[in-house]
Order: sequence, then structure tokens, then C-alpha cells
Amino acid sequence: MKLKSLVKHLPAEGELAKKPRPYLNHSVELKKVFTPEERAGMLDSVGLNVFFFPSEMITGCDLLSDSGVTTMTSEQWAALHLGDEAYGSNRGYFMLRDRICDTFGDVFFSEPGVGEPNAFIFHQGRAAEDALFTQLGKLGSRLIIPSNGHFDTTGANIEANKMQAVNLFSAELHDTESDVNFKGNMNLQKLKELLEKSSDKIPLTYLTITNNTAGGQPVSMANIREVAQITHRYDIPLFFDACRFAENAWFIKQFESGYKDKNIKSIVHEMFSYVDGFTISYKKDGLVNMGGGLFLRADGMFVKKYPDMPGVILGHQIIKEGHPTYGGLSGRDIMALVVGLSVVTREEYLTFRINQVREFGEEMHGQGIPVLRPVGGHAVYVDVNQFFGDTSMKPEDFGGVALCAVLLAAYGHRACELGYFSFGYYDERKRQEVLPDVNFVRFAVPRLRYEKQDLQSVVAAMRALHEYRHDIPGVEVTYGRNLPLRHFKARFEFKK
Ligand code: F0G
Repeated sequence: MKLKSLVKHLPAEGELAKKPRPYLNHSVELKKVFTPEERAGMLDSVGLNVFFFPSEMITGCDLLSDSGVTTMTSEQWAALHLGDEAYGSNRGYFMLRDRICDTFGDVFFSEPGVGEPNAFIFHQGRAAEDALFTQLGKLGSRLIIPSNGHFDTTGANIEANKMQAVNLFSAELHDTESDVNFKGNMNLQKLKELLEKSSDKIPLTYLTITNNTAGGQPVSMANIREVAQITHRYDIPLFFDACRFAENAWFIKQFESGYKDKNIKSIVHEMFSYVDGFTISYKKDGLVNMGGGLFLRADGMFVKKYPDMPGVILGHQIIKEGHPTYGGLSGRDIMALVVGLSVVTREEYLTFRINQVREFGEEMHGQGIPVLRPVGGHAVYVDVNQFFGDTSMKPEDFGGVALCAVLLAAYGHRACELGYFSFGYYDERKRQEVLPDVNFVRFAVPRLRYEKQDLQSVVAAMRALHEYRHDIPGVEVTYGRNLPLRHFKARFEFKK
């Protein structure tokens, strides 16, 4: 029997219970060893703020963020050597232009010197947001930027420019048990109501794909299409916050009817065909450690409505970041991004990546820990209110902050609170906390970094803490309760 016909008779690779990872380790870093007492001592000394805890002391998984912590491929490391550090028009710039046109569509990166500039490279996402919102804020007073969920720095950039960042979460988001697949969608009813009342105050509408603030949940193509139709009817442009665009496209392929047989790139093209521009942090689905940008559709509603904007943004970019052909990035960063963008739309990569995150969440759920389900693309979100539901933990005890501190000290895993403390604020006049809609602890999974065993050790640790939940005390804020973006700066103590 010929080998070719023999393999045809065996069970197919895809049908086996376990599949290999679609990559192999290129180089690894051995961790240092620290005891729980040493970690607890360090955490106490930084006021229980996990952002200030030295990453070298993390003996478990560092799930603080999925941003900028991707393990790069060997092709990316090789590409760094091809970085061209010329001040103007480095080699990578032209390659990046081709890659961006190929990934998102030609309309988002016009040929240099032809027409108005429409592609602006920045060193990370928030620098691109700063450029856009600084200019939009000048268009009027008390303007409103609605979104399906603004990320914290996005909201802060909007508010810093005297505009209101409004979140229109979908109704299904709060139902942790419902298996609706696109809980990241914008709430269309609320959008219509807002537009009817205040369309003259809205310079732009945003869709965050996937929706990080709303549990990392994806947005459906139908929702993108409808939001575009509704806002365009009012002559209001639509932008993406596109950090996790490829992961969002994978969900559309997997769960939305009509997309099963389309490839990821064509789904991405359709998604971007509805928007007039986007901001992006390439530290997520660019698979790089640094990079971001702002891109405007060449013939889109945004540039037609605000014809001066490209020139003004260009001026902002040159003053703040650098020449438009490198825009705050070194030539080698640009090369790593060129390669990263070519990997991220590969389906075998995305399938492995998202299934790893989902299995992590399902295992947590299997241990009785309340996680938002279905699990999103980049992180597992534990519902803090449910976790402490039968304990004496009160909202102003910031249970999520307490949970992260105990997890890090006892078991060496770092997660972060994205809930009452991070998204809430203290109202000085009423002398009380104003609580947001969502209260999560997020376990963000860096791309290509951890193996199943690592994540299973986090599940085991969370199970132990869940059993111990009645004995986890709340925290007192000892510094920074009134500060903007307070979670990055505050200090805490346990209450007892
Ligand atoms: N938009 C979204 C949806 C984000 O998740 C982030 C960053 C940004 C914008 C800002 O990008 O960091 O490059 O300036 N999110 C990271 C996180 C920090 O941990 O979720 P940046």
C-alpha cells in the first residue's frame, strides 16, 4: 500500500482529540524564583497596585495586558535587521503601506504625495487617539463621542478634550450565562435615541472591535453595517478602534451566518468597507511590541465633512511624533509590524489563539468561577460582583483590586481590575463613588506566549481563591482616589 493512500484511511488530523500548536518556541526565558512572602512584601511596598509590581518577580503568568507583550516570530526578529533608520522615507515605510493596503483596503493609505495625506503612523494607539480627539474637540463645545465601549485611554483622551465619551453597551452584555455570540455589539436602540436627541453634538461614532471594555466581546458584521447606516443617515462618520480587528473577523467567520467559507482577509476588508477611518494600536493584532496609527478613508465621509482635518493632523503628527514616514517608530519597529500584519490574519494562528483563550475561560467556569461567556478573543473576564456575591464585600471595598492583590502575592499570577475602581470615579460634591456598569477582573492572554499548562495553573489558583472568598477583605484607597485614570496611580491597603 502506498503511504499516500494509507494516510487517507487513518482518522484525519483535525479529528484527533489533541492538536499541536501551530508554532514552536524560538527562544525562552527562564523565570526567577520568589516566595509568596517575598511577593507579598513587594506588593505591600507598592501599595497593592499591581502595575507597580516588578514583572521579574512574576513567577506565574503575567496576564495584566495582551498589549505589546506578543512573542514575536523568528521572521519578525530577522526583519528587525532590515530596519532602515533613515529620517525620511525609510524602506519599511513603503512595505508597511503595501501591507496596510493589503490588510485593510487601498483607500486607507494613499500614495505619498498624491492628494491629501490619510495615513498617520504613531508610536502607539493613544497617541493616534490624542491626534484625532485634540482636533475634534476644537469643533464645538460639549461634543459627544458614542461607542459600543470606549477603552479607558480612549475615553480619557475624549474627556481631556472636553467632549463626552458615551458607552452604548448591548443589552446582552450583563447576562453572563446567555450564549449570544456578539455581546460586544453597539446597542442600536440607544444609538437611535441618542442621535434623535443630540445628532448635532456628535462629530463621530466609534466601534471598538473587539470590545475590550465590554468583556472583550466581538462585534457582528450586521451590527457594523447597521451602525454605519444609521450614523451615515445623520451625516456622522463612523470609525473603528481596530486594535483586535483580526480576532473580531475570526468570530464573524465562526459564528455569523454567511461567513463560514470566506477567508479572514476578505472578512476584514468587508468590515473596513463600512468605516470612514480607524485608530489602531498595533501592540495587539499587529503582533508587535510598539506601534499605532490613524487612517482615514480617502473618499470617506470624514474627510469630506472635515476637509481641513488631514492637514491639521499631519501638522500634529510632525510636531509630536516625527516625519510622517516613520511617525514615532524606529525603522526596525516598522519592519516587525510589516511581518506581524502578515501573520495575524492567518486562520490557523487565530484559531489556536482564540481557542486557547476560550478553553482557559471554560476551565475557569468549570471550576465554578463566574466568567463572562461566551469567552471573548483576548481575555477572560471574571465578574467580581458574582465572585463575591455571597460574601460581605461591598462595592466601595473594590473586591476586584483585592482579588488581584491576593492572586499575585499568593500564587504569582498578575491580572488587573477593570471595573468599579478603574472605570468608576469619586464624586467630590456628593462624597461618594460613581460606579460604572461593569465590574470585572481581566485575565488578558498575551499572544504566542503561554502554554496550556501555564493557564491551567491560573485556573487552579482562582479555584483556591474562590473557595477562600469569604476571607478576602476589601481594600481602602490610601492615595489617588480622585485622580483621572486612577487605577494606574492609586495605592491601597487591606481593610482588616
Ligand atoms: N483601544 C483599545 C480597545 C485598547 O485595548 C487599547 C489598549 C488602546 C486603544 C490604546 O492603545 O496602549 O497602544 O495606547 N489596551 C491595552 C490593554 C493597554 O491592556 O487593554 P495603546
